[in-house]
Amino acid sequence: MARIAITGGTGFVGIHTSRALAAAGHDLRLLARGTRSGPRPAGAEWVRADVVGGEGLIEALRGCDAVVHLVAIIREKGRQTFTRVNAEGTANVVRAATEAGVGHVVHISAIGVDPDPRYAYLASKWEGEQAVRGGAVPFTVLRPSLVFGPGDGFFTVLAKLIRLNPVVPVVGDGRALFQPIAVSDLARIIALSIERGPSGAVHEVGGPDHLTYEQIIDIIKAETGRRRRNVHVPVGAMRPLAALFEKVLPNPPVTPGQLRLLEKENVTRVDAVATQFGFDPLPLEGNAAYLQDY
Ligand SMILES: NC(=O)c1ccc[n+]([C@@H]2O[C@H](COP(=O)([O-])OP(=O)(O)OC[C@H]3O[C@@H](n4cnc5c(N)ncnc54)[C@H](OP(=O)(O)O)[C@@H]3O)[C@@H](O)[C@H]2O)c1
Repeated sequence: MARIAITGGTGFVGIHTSRALAAAGHDLRLLARGTRSGPRPAGAEWVRADVVGGEGLIEALRGCDAVVHLVAIIREKGRQTFTRVNAEGTANVVRAATEAGVGHVVHISAIGVDPDPRYAYLASKWEGEQAVRGGAVPFTVLRPSLVFGPGDGFFTVLAKLIRLNPVVPVVGDGRALFQPIAVSDLARIIALSIERGPSGAVHEVGGPDHLTYEQIIDIIKAETGRRRRNVHVPVGAMRPLAALFEKVLPNPPVTPGQLRLLEKENVTRVDAVATQFGFDPLPLEGNAAYLQDY
């Protein structure tokens, strides 16, 4: 049993990870700013902390054997910018972990991280990853593909889009590839990483299937029992709309930056989890009934 801090422990991956780590018998300390209320495992301690300023992080991490670093944003909002949260925030966590004498940072990166500034989210995640790999704390880096499960921010948005529209807009040719991984499987991989100790390596992880964007839409339609026709919309036509959404909506369904992410393949080997973590991950097909609630 270990004492483990989880930054972003109240988010989508954080909730599932804290459940898995609590079930494995660990003592947990969840760190976040406190903008969300939600279920937290019994006995998990909760500490208010902002990784951007970094104040209070050293105290929050003191006495912890490991920290699972999950804080990141996929969409910028006000002072929560990619650079501040994903890059500098991660560097702040690594520095604080060093000062606090934490023995292992498990960092959740993302498949496709890339220093190319045209992909602002991926570039900031790349910078954050570099802070972990170049830092003084022994580490494990996990790079998941898209994560699905109750509370996710991608598949539930598509399910809503399908429910609310008579036809389903498919951006571009719909052939961008993804490898959805179940959040329960990612949580299991994080728990295994804690158990094994620092690997000092980067592990790409994804589910058992390479799926195109359009195949994902068809699976969601099947799992939620909705008959809809797909209509292809050129990326160029979506861009001004996405720019407008970003300007006027508090939670836009798509932003120009997210459209750009569709240019990048989001896959690794289909046996990545089996070979590195010794179990077969769940496919999206047959495991997406939760989307009926959205
Ligand atoms: N979901 C996916 O499909 C996916 C795919 C690949 C990689 N990832 C990576 O997985 C990690 C977790 O993603 P997620 O989907 O669980 O995100 P999420 O649901 O948006 O959760 C983000 C968490 O970070 C906290 N947070 C945000 N800004 C903060 C700040 N400045 N200081 C402290 N805490 C802050 C949030 O709580 P407060 O708002 O209360 O602070 C929340 O607990 C991220 O690193 C992401 O890049 C996710």
